[in-house]
Amino acid sequence: MKMEMERQIGIPNRNPAVFVFLLLLVSCQLCSVVSWKKEEFRNCNQTPFCKRARGRKPSSSSFAAHDVSISDGDLTARLVPSDKTLEDQDQIQIKQLILTLSVYQDGILRLRIDEDPKLDPPKKRFEVPDVVMPEFLSKKLWLQRLSTETIGGDASPSSIVYLLDGYEAVLRHDPFEVYVRKKGGNRVVSMNSHGLFDFELLRVKKDGEDWEERFKGHTDTRPFGPQSISFDVSFYDADHVYGIPERATSFALKPTRGPGVEESEPYRLFNLDVFEYIHDSPFGLYGSIPLMISHGKSRGTSGFFWLNAAEMQIDVLGTGWDAESGISLPTSQSRIDTHWMSEAGIVDAFFFVGPGPKDVVRQYTSVTGTPAMPQLFAVAYHQCRWNYRDEEDVEQVDSKFDEHDIPYDVLWLDIEHTDGKRYFTWDRMLFPHPEEMQRKLAAKGRHLVTIVDPHIKRDDSYFLHKEATEKQYYVRDATGKDYDGWCWSGSSSYLDMLRPEIRSWWAEKFSFENYVGSTPSLYIWNDMNEPSVFNGPEVTMPRDALHVEGVEHRELHNAYGYYFHMATADGLVKRGDGRDRPFVLSRAVFAGSQRHGAVWTGDNSADWDHLRVSVPMVLTLGLTGISFSGADVGGFFGNPEPELLVRWYQLGAYYPFFRAHAHHDTKRREPWLFGEKNTERIREAIHTRYMLLPYFYTLFREANTTGVPVIRPLWMEFPSEEATFSNDEAFMIGSSLLVQGIYTEHARHASVYLPGKELWYDTKTGVAYKGGKTYKLDVNEESIPAFQRAGTIIPRKDRFRRSSTQMVNDPYTLVIALNSSQAAEGELYVDDGRSFGFQEGAYIHRRFVFSDGKLTSVNMAPAAPGQNQFSSECVIERIILQGLSTGQKSALIEPANQKAEIELGPLLLHSKKGPTAITIRKPNVRIADDWVIKLF
Ligand code: GLC
Repeated sequence: MKMEMERQIGIPNRNPAVFVFLLLLVSCQLCSVVSWKKEEFRNCNQTPFCKRARGRKPSSSSFAAHDVSISDGDLTARLVPSDKTLEDQDQIQIKQLILTLSVYQDGILRLRIDEDPKLDPPKKRFEVPDVVMPEFLSKKLWLQRLSTETIGGDASPSSIVYLLDGYEAVLRHDPFEVYVRKKGGNRVVSMNSHGLFDFELLRVKKDGEDWEERFKGHTDTRPFGPQSISFDVSFYDADHVYGIPERATSFALKPTRGPGVEESEPYRLFNLDVFEYIHDSPFGLYGSIPLMISHGKSRGTSGFFWLNAAEMQIDVLGTGWDAESGISLPTSQSRIDTHWMSEAGIVDAFFFVGPGPKDVVRQYTSVTGTPAMPQLFAVAYHQCRWNYRDEEDVEQVDSKFDEHDIPYDVLWLDIEHTDGKRYFTWDRMLFPHPEEMQRKLAAKGRHLVTIVDPHIKRDDSYFLHKEATEKQYYVRDATGKDYDGWCWSGSSSYLDMLRPEIRSWWAEKFSFENYVGSTPSLYIWNDMNEPSVFNGPEVTMPRDALHVEGVEHRELHNAYGYYFHMATADGLVKRGDGRDRPFVLSRAVFAGSQRHGAVWTGDNSADWDHLRVSVPMVLTLGLTGISFSGADVGGFFGNPEPELLVRWYQLGAYYPFFRAHAHHDTKRREPWLFGEKNTERIREAIHTRYMLLPYFYTLFREANTTGVPVIRPLWMEFPSEEATFSNDEAFMIGSSLLVQGIYTEHARHASVYLPGKELWYDTKTGVAYKGGKTYKLDVNEESIPAFQRAGTIIPRKDRFRRSSTQMVNDPYTLVIALNSSQAAEGELYVDDGRSFGFQEGAYIHRRFVFSDGKLTSVNMAPAAPGQNQFSSECVIERIILQGLSTGQKSALIEPANQKAEIELGPLLLHSKKGPTAITIRKPNVRIADDWVIKLF
């Protein structure tokens, strides 16, 4: 109860008058704060557009494509409703739409449908700006020719355009349907095959019309009437569909409707601050990425992305849902049908043909951008809590890490560090010397993150509020006044981040002159950017609030936090000499957020179910472009039992974003507070992450260049293994490491499926297991199971330091796991860990190849002599070889022509027992050089 109240009023202020006011407020609200549970949010039935769309039957409307032609390299057509669908009001408003199909490189089809500007709509519908990459637009293939034919048993002709070798896009004219298929053959993804397409036109209100919507005492004026869009999308040869974060549920999405399906709410995409979210629900949380990916054994992977930032609801339809509809689609192909419904915006949809999982991710990130390359420190371990009280607390926590020999890179300050939740300020009683505090951390290579939320305290003496008011930079309410909502800072207003000019102004606030007390080692956390408004409808901003040029908040809601995140990241790029990469953590997410920084899964709870669901949540974010994500280690609400906390560290050490965090009502839980044994286990988990930093950093670079996420579902690496398709418990880190979490108390065994045909080496014991089987393995509390795939090479740094920064010059260890052909490959990417120099080629990128008894280091960086300004003196100090079947005794390094020590011994550094491996000691070859090490 106490926590819920605080959520509405903030932590009690020290000012007595404010405190009395808050007490009054609490007492008024006592009856209504029983819980911020599901009932506080709208379900589909209480959401008129969703209810209407969900009630539609297949073929209940039909539109035909007229005047199909090629114009400006696109296929265009007019969509005209067939007479039978015209209701009275539509008769007056002739419901005609413009359809455009464009083709881009890599087989990407873009479909746009909007109102016809010639028919004079009351305003332009919102198209989400600044998400599609400018580079993508330049990859348009200019269509020249249209071929028209009647396909199969269709009653009307179709127009066909070339997409990619072996693929084509088809527009059937009447009823209109769009699909991608293999040339002349099987379908991949289709839209409106069931005739669920509907598009409500904007209207001007007439006397007597009542469009208002009411929910829990809030009224949405809906000045342009209902304006929703809905349609069906089918994925062919699909066994499962995935994606459309963010929610706490299974990785493979369960059907929400259909015969034999336990009917649930549709999957909701509406960015909300959901207090104490439950661990298994289709309900949407803080972020929305309208990308669905299908995967099946027989064909592979495909994707569908709808660039639309309004509230969206998506049903996954169980087989047979359309049995009565009379619609006949190819029966030779299995299919998953889905129903997409959005409150506003336009149709701006992208079809991705795959056919592999990595192809779809590449195609999607070519549209919305690949993940930003983080600084090295950000990939290490972060220590957070609401709140580290004051400078003394910070100093103590910092020194305790050293005392206990536990590395960490970043200490975080939550909202209490500010002067009354006025961001960019410090509570000078608690933090009198912020620069000095940062400098002390920086001396150990550590960083500070402070929180900067989007609610701006409406206090005339607060510089930010004053300036924003004068410049008229706030979002306005439906009556035209600055919108005033309640958040941590009390009465607050919100900047109109849709306007580029306001984003630049905001970015300036992060300069060292403007953000007094900040230094170059300070980075930022953007929270509550859904935006969270405690007294707003569903804890957010009213849908009829107004942005620039009359854009209604409902049209861009899901992207509000995205623009805020973007502006903040931009601010960190611009400050100082503009040299360093930014680090900004955001809670709200939209398509493209991967370009701006990291994301976390919000306010989870300290229980085993939340530990378990963190894996599908993080996997889903990765699959939809957001590679850099993690869940609060330990669970935000509640006090974890030591065993749960330890398990969470062991799992969290493999999250791409690894941060412990806790609510201020919880007991302190720094790693050394649970007895020596548990401290040791947590230390070991964090050390594991630090050892693997070179591998993680290399994977972050892979994500940065290809979009392929750091954390991957098993089927991304083993696409034809059905046993992996709905595995929510295990995941891959890159292509070389498989990790199995432990999600139950007192677990003594774990059931682990190891895919493929090759061996897997337990990373702790070295024991090898043959792939293609499920093993029941003994587990203990010391670690969770992790395996290196045979045929791979993992780079590590094994020396323990205080922070990643202090490891920069440390030597490397290569861990080679040979496959059945006695071969293995792996990569290492290294740059200066902080600047943008890598974009100009300032990096080292090596491929290590072991075959025919020799290990070769091959350069993968572009060979541009003189341009590559990054070098490193780092050497490889140890090479561990597992799975060598022959008894080589010596190693010769070329071109130096030197011998290196070789040793056959136990794999584990501190154990005399167990499987053996060959260790090449001190080859001391530089990572920057070409070399070969021959075994004989
Ligand atoms: C929100 C965040 C949480 C943070 C708190 C106070 O609940 O999700 O991480 O600690 O606000 O800022």
